[in-house]
Amino acid sequence: MKFTFLGQSCFLIEFGGKRLLTDPFIHPDLKTTQFSITDLKPDYILLSHGHGDHVQDLKEVLQKSNAILISTYELVSYYEDIAKGGHGMNTGGKYKFDFGVVKLVSAVHSSVLPDGTYGSNPVGFVIWNDNSSFYFAGDTALTMDMKLIPLTCPSLDVAILPIGDNFTMGYEDAVIAAEFINCDQIIGCHYDTFPPIEIDKTLAVAEFKSKGKTLHLVELNNSLEI
Ligand code: NI
Ligand code: MN
Repeated sequence: MKFTFLGQSCFLIEFGGKRLLTDPFIHPDLKTTQFSITDLKPDYILLSHGHGDHVQDLKEVLQKSNAILISTYELVSYYEDIAKGGHGMNTGGKYKFDFGVVKLVSAVHSSVLPDGTYGSNPVGFVIWNDNSSFYFAGDTALTMDMKLIPLTCPSLDVAILPIGDNFTMGYEDAVIAAEFINCDQIIGCHYDTFPPIEIDKTLAVAEFKSKGKTLHLVELNNSLEI
């Protein structure tokens, strides 16, 4: 698996021979560079909820790609006129795609689209195939529901967890989340993009290390292969 960080909760993930893009929000610093949305060419987009810091660039990515949108039924319906394809789901359900199985899991947060349209309950994603697995938590608080993931899904190789606090769990709670999901390799997201979610990265990394876990903080437009 290869994870390229594009800002906030946006990752381009190479998985099962396909390109999966999560919560399209390209960091403003990247937009001032040679970065091109046309070059992203995702096969699928995973959308966790409707907040602006997750859908900011979704329309443009849908217009400039042939990506299939995977999200809740409500969010897929909202974008059906722009998307070339969509697959609506809901919490607790799983479906086998050509790259692997996608299961929607609970996230404790809120969700509304920028124009005020109801954004469905927020969700996280657990994704696996015969070779690898990961969890993309979306925006969420620490929740006991995370303990269901090891009971209902194959063991996780990697998890992308929000660590910026204020709008989601902070890194202290994310360490407990990592324990709940039995995962040692964590990629942090949803931090440092705006002042309320700025964190002390050294302390965050140390907190995970103290529990025998690794927190990867991938630089913008850089990749991590696991
Ligand atoms: Ni949010
Ligand atoms: Mn957010």
